[in-house]
Amino acid sequence: MQFSSLPNRLSRWQWAGLASLFVIAFITVIQYPASTTRSDPISVWKNADSSKISGPVSKFHLLLPASGYHFRLCRALASATALGYPVSVLNGWMKEGGLDASKTHLAKVRTVMQYLDSLPASSDDDLVLMIDGYDVVFQIPPDVLIDRYFAITKAASAKLALRYGANSTESLKGDDMPQQTILFGPEKVCYPVDWSRVGCWAVPQDIGIPHGAFGPDDGQLQHSLPRWLNSGTIMGPAKDMRLMFAATLERIAQHYDPIHEFSDSDQMYMSDVWGVQEYARSMEELRQYFHGDIDPNVAFPTFNVEKVLPNVLPGQKTEYHIGIDHRSALFQTRAGSDHVLSMLTYNETTEANETTTFATVTQNVPESPNFNPYKIYLPSNLASSITRILRLVEPAVGAIPNVTELRLETNLVTKNVYGLFHSTGGKDYIDKLWTQLWFFPYVRPLFEAMVPALQAGRPIAVADGRTWVPYHTLSSNSSVTQGVNATGAWADIDGGWLSWQELCGAFEAEVFDGYTPPMDD
Ligand SMILES: *[C@@H]1O[C@H](CO)[C@@H](O)[C@H](O)[C@H]1NC(C)=O
Ligand SMILES: *[C@@H]1O[C@H](CO)[C@@H](O)[C@H](O)[C@H]1NC(C)=O
Ligand SMILES: *[C@@H]1O[C@H](CO)[C@@H](O)[C@H](O)[C@H]1NC(C)=O
Ligand SMILES: *[C@@H]1O[C@H](CO)[C@@H](O)[C@H](O)[C@H]1NC(C)=O
Ligand SMILES: *[C@@H]1O[C@H](CO)[C@@H](O)[C@H](O)[C@H]1NC(C)=O
Ligand SMILES: *[C@@H]1O[C@H](CO)[C@@H](O)[C@H](O)[C@H]1NC(C)=O
Repeated sequence: MQFSSLPNRLSRWQWAGLASLFVIAFITVIQYPASTTRSDPISVWKNADSSKISGPVSKFHLLLPASGYHFRLCRALASATALGYPVSVLNGWMKEGGLDASKTHLAKVRTVMQYLDSLPASSDDDLVLMIDGYDVVFQIPPDVLIDRYFAITKAASAKLALRYGANSTESLKGDDMPQQTILFGPEKVCYPVDWSRVGCWAVPQDIGIPHGAFGPDDGQLQHSLPRWLNSGTIMGPAKDMRLMFAATLERIAQHYDPIHEFSDSDQMYMSDVWGVQEYARSMEELRQYFHGDIDPNVAFPTFNVEKVLPNVLPGQKTEYHIGIDHRSALFQTRAGSDHVLSMLTYNETTEANETTTFATVTQNVPESPNFNPYKIYLPSNLASSITRILRLVEPAVGAIPNVTELRLETNLVTKNVYGLFHSTGGKDYIDKLWTQLWFFPYVRPLFEAMVPALQAGRPIAVADGRTWVPYHTLSSNSSVTQGVNATGAWADIDGGWLSWQELCGAFEAEVFDGYTPPMDD
């Protein structure tokens, strides 16, 4: 998918209007200092016997929509296994017709819906992470990803509570009250581009990052803010995900037009479900100030384009708890972001504080006059989680590096060592990235080391007052119980076990040796 540069009118956006209503120090709310870390990953690992868990337990599901074999799918699976993510489910595996993702992107919505519908009510509060199967790799372990998920969604829900007139930051209660529980990846342009579409114009004005932070505000894609929704990476509770996917299918049923150029773009329908949510939220907010008719063309001061207004019926559900990971703490999309990504080594300390390491950034992304190099600190929970994983392979590989020697790809603007990379807009970047990832030299020994935990369904994290265990474990049926051949994935809800050999046996050079076939896209 290719993006052209944004229309010039972007640079003429007026921000004064609605933005002044949202005077919240979002940047300070959304940051998650190391002190919020709820778990010491090393002790989680030590107390890994499931029978000894005290307190509530929830499950973590990893879904990869994928219809057939590919080396990039195997790299995605390998990054998940090496870092200790739950065993994956491949949604739409070898399915046909409307469930075949190689024929229509809508297959993803249908097959993930089938999966969510199959879950029992006891799974409603489980966490589901869905990632596109063919262009994603993980960079950070699941305990830190889950920590970040809760830090971001709780901060966003607190901000929403203030915005809707409550006198506390306590999350609003009720399925139809504004909250944030579902996180999508960010996109730097509304795609598919159609500025009359509600998912393009009704989006939040304030994303907590000032204009110009990614470069001069000149309308170019790479300089624009990551304001829009990307549907390739989604994380949220099973129940809310089910409602959101159902709303997307309903929108498809109502708006599907076979001759529309993007009729099979799942992202178009999902971003419009979000757009309607944002439209309804904003109108609700405006009613607190304007006690009469509200003109949406004035209320949404964006674009010189005729807006297609959503037809929201009285009592219609519009609130789906959807939000965007604008700061790429979890999800780093590629399109328009190459210039803010850098492999940093967090090997500097100050004399005053030798325990906290940082990297110094000398790249002037915003093109500021009199630019001063700045520091990005390595979060302590990430440092200890990576160290724990490296120690697992120490017996097999001998000397392991210190986390301060690793190169970690970092978003220089939002200062996050992102959780996973999603290669929108061309696959060349992710193909080069694979051998650069910190764990690449250890993928095979990490597979070996992770197998016992993945077989036993050992705890992954402690967060939100709950212990997180994988929903899916390795097949206990497998005749092989050790090493890469014991790993694999589950096909949909009915397709059974797919062994590593079957899925990826033909791609081991691509996974373990970093070989990339020429001209494959
Ligand atoms: C405001 O906060 C106080 C103290 O927490 C509480 O008793 C009261 O019900 C709240 N009022 C509203 C309108 O939420
Ligand atoms: C820190 O990392 C950078 C980048 O890899 C390297 O050039 C530098 O020598 C390292 N410094 C120390 C003290 O190891
Ligand atoms: C070092 O920095 C970290 C993170 O900013 C902080 O938690 C810690 O207390 C500091 N240690 C000292 C000795 O100042
Ligand atoms: C990594 O290096 C730092 C600084 O030299 C040191 O304090 C720390 O103990 C080392 N960590 C490990 C796991 O070796
Ligand atoms: C385990 O193997 C048996 C016999 O081959 C098969 O019937 C069953 O479906 C398998 N179960 C799983 C979970 O793969
Ligand atoms: C995995 O299975 C394949 C096919 O049976 C075999 O050739 C390979 O040696 C096995 N790998 C390991 C590490 O045992």
